[in-house]
Amino acid sequence: MSKSLKEIVLPVAGGTALALSAALLIANMDYGQKKIASLESKVEQVSLQAEDAAQRASQEAQTVSELRQKVAEIQVLSEQRAAAGSDMTEPALPKEGAFGLGREAMPEEVAAWDVDVLPDGRGLPEGRGDVFTGDEVFAEKCASCHGDFAEGVDNWPVLAGGFDTLGDKDPVKTVGSYWPYLSTVWDYVHRSMPFGEAQTLTADETYAIVAYILYSNDLVDDDFELSHENFAEFEMYNTDGFVIDDRPELEYSKWRTEPCMENCKPSVEITMRATFLDVTPEGGGESVMNDASAEDTPTFVANAPASNTPSDTASGTESVAVLSADIDPKLIASGQKVFRKCQACHDVGAGAKNKSGPQLNGLIGRPMGSVESFNYSKVFKTAHEEGRVWDEAALAEFLAKPKSFMKGTKMAFSGLRKEQDLDAITAYLKSVGD
Ligand code: HEC
Ligand code: HEC
Repeated sequence: MSKSLKEIVLPVAGGTALALSAALLIANMDYGQKKIASLESKVEQVSLQAEDAAQRASQEAQTVSELRQKVAEIQVLSEQRAAAGSDMTEPALPKEGAFGLGREAMPEEVAAWDVDVLPDGRGLPEGRGDVFTGDEVFAEKCASCHGDFAEGVDNWPVLAGGFDTLGDKDPVKTVGSYWPYLSTVWDYVHRSMPFGEAQTLTADETYAIVAYILYSNDLVDDDFELSHENFAEFEMYNTDGFVIDDRPELEYSKWRTEPCMENCKPSVEITMRATFLDVTPEGGGESVMNDASAEDTPTFVANAPASNTPSDTASGTESVAVLSADIDPKLIASGQKVFRKCQACHDVGAGAKNKSGPQLNGLIGRPMGSVESFNYSKVFKTAHEEGRVWDEAALAEFLAKPKSFMKGTKMAFSGLRKEQDLDAITAYLKSVGD
């Protein structure tokens, strides 16, 4: 029974398998064909897209070349216009092929913005005004800030005077002394004054005010009238005081040459510690000076050139500064801080040089005015001749009020006000050797 069953079942099963695999094959073929078809259609799509892109690219290339041509045309045109000396402040050429946004500005709108006046008078509206009228308008509209005579009230700008100050350290730059073009005055006043009420002045008022400002600068007489006709003739005081900046052409290249690397110093010697010179910041407990005891407070070798050594001290160029243990190191440290007020002009320590003031090594016990290479003022020369010597009392008195202790000294220092600063600086100066 089992055998016959097998015999029946197997062929059936085999037949089924055969049928199934045939079906599968057909299905597969079907699938394959669909796949091919879809791939084919994709290829078609892609090639269509490629064509499309190519077409767009060529369109864009054409646009670009058209734009290039336009730019070239405009360049040629503007060159021609410039060469023909035509007015470069004229409105730009109308633009073709705009985006269709906005509208043409109306002539009135353009005129409202087009208020600039150029040095040769272009842009000025017709009109006139005299000093007399200007005086009145100025008194009414400007004097509250600029003063009746344009001299400036409080900190408001001065508009007159300052003629002989242009070469000074603090020149008084006014309309009269400094401004190179009258057109700037007209333009500025008309455009932006009175402060807070800009562009309320009529053309005639502006002519009158400008005439009055010139008058208050003594540049015209009281019967002067300014108008669009005589405007361009007027020459300002400082017209030639400005130069074209030619540094980019003439100077910059000189600064860009290769750095000199010849004749360098063969070796470098360390002559002092940075903490002591006060070039490293304090804080963080790192500084030697912070919790220094007398033993580890830095000492250094004084190595001043003989010429800098005060005449009465040992002429040897090397001597070691030994700190006496009775000077409080904290006081020295705070004296070192006070010395920051002096170090723009005074140097101390090994190899100390004269700056605008003499080096101050070994000051206590040193004759006044005795640094040979330093050119002292008369009062110090006299003190030196009289054999006066720096001691703590004299130093404290001098540093408290330099000008009254040494009448006529050229030390431009107002003095140390605090007693403790005087003690500290004395301690510090004692600590820096001789
Ligand atoms: C409310 C105060 C005030 C009034 C009124 C006023 N100004 Fe001024 N003016 C100023 C101030 C502030 C400035 C400086 C503005 C700035 O630097 O931007 C100035 C600057 C100027 C300057 C330029 C000065 C310079 O050297 O830079 C001129 C010129 C001037 N004013 C003229 C006038 C005239 C003319 C009037 C009257 C029509 C007038 N001002 C009214 C406050 C005033
Ligand atoms: C702006 C520069 C300047 C400053 C800051 C300055 N000095 Fe002087 N100091 C001088 C000049 C210049 C002299 C020479 C004075 C003279 O010839 O009249 C001088 C002279 C001295 C002298 C006399 C030296 C001698 O050889 O007789 C002492 C001491 C002195 N200064 C200490 C100090 C001290 C300490 C400080 C800081 C608290 C200080 N100075 C700040 C410029 C300055």
